[in-house]
Amino acid sequence: MKEERMNDNPLFSISYGLYLVSARDNGKINGCIINTIQQLCNTPEKIGAVINKHCLTHDMIKNSGKMCISILTKDTPYELFFHFGLKSGRDINKFDSVNYWLDKESLPYLTRHVNSYISCHVTSMTDLGTHSLFVGEIYDSKKINDMPSILYQDYFDYVKPQASYISDDEYRSELMMQGESVMSQMMGINRTVSKEATGKTKEDTIITPDTKNLVVSVNEPS
Ligand SMILES: Cc1cc2nc3c(=O)[nH]c(=O)nc-3n(C[C@H](O)[C@H](O)[C@H](O)COP(=O)(O)O)c2cc1C
Repeated sequence: MKEERMNDNPLFSISYGLYLVSARDNGKINGCIINTIQQLCNTPEKIGAVINKHCLTHDMIKNSGKMCISILTKDTPYELFFHFGLKSGRDINKFDSVNYWLDKESLPYLTRHVNSYISCHVTSMTDLGTHSLFVGEIYDSKKINDMPSILYQDYFDYVKPQASYISDDEYRSELMMQGESVMSQMMGINRTVSKEATGKTKEDTIITPDTKNLVVSVNEPS
């Protein structure tokens, strides 16, 4: 029934990509999945991101005035959407279990399943109701590889498990039972680039990509 209503709604015919938008506020880094990214202007180059006020990432961008957008690729596994899009940074430290680099102002972007990142200083924030529109001017960006970007439609077509097959709740318990080892395998978790190895904290270290797990080449950050 709900499915039918969704299919009849013209709003569901609008095309989107999928992105990880991340922020750093008061020493904490966090991010969430969004589909609502758009280039709004050419000169100057401005990007818009629409984020629900309930998201921790919303408040972190509001407080810090910066956001970094990782553009996700077609090979992005459901586990990554689940981790960043169905859990909140209020409950877990999401970046503890993934590999990431830092941009010029130390905002994190993912090393895997990403073809580019774009970082912005927020120039305006508009209250839209449930969501806010953040408009930002680009201060750092990089094309990392040529993998095609994933579309929101791809998420429904082949990434998200079918509702009849497994629910998000079932998937959550399955992941918990496996101690999130699935995440490690899918996302190249690098808990072992470590204090012991380097004498530095995880953030000082700037996690290096685990080349064994990389499916695409990753450039050194500038
Ligand atoms: C495929 C997908 C698309 C999403 N798109 C958006 C979006 O456009 N805007 C938004 O505010 N949240 C969106 N979300 C939900 C947030 O990612 C989610 O609320 C997240 O848990 C917030 O995490 P945080 O509290 O750590 O910021 C999406 C989630 C998924 C799985």
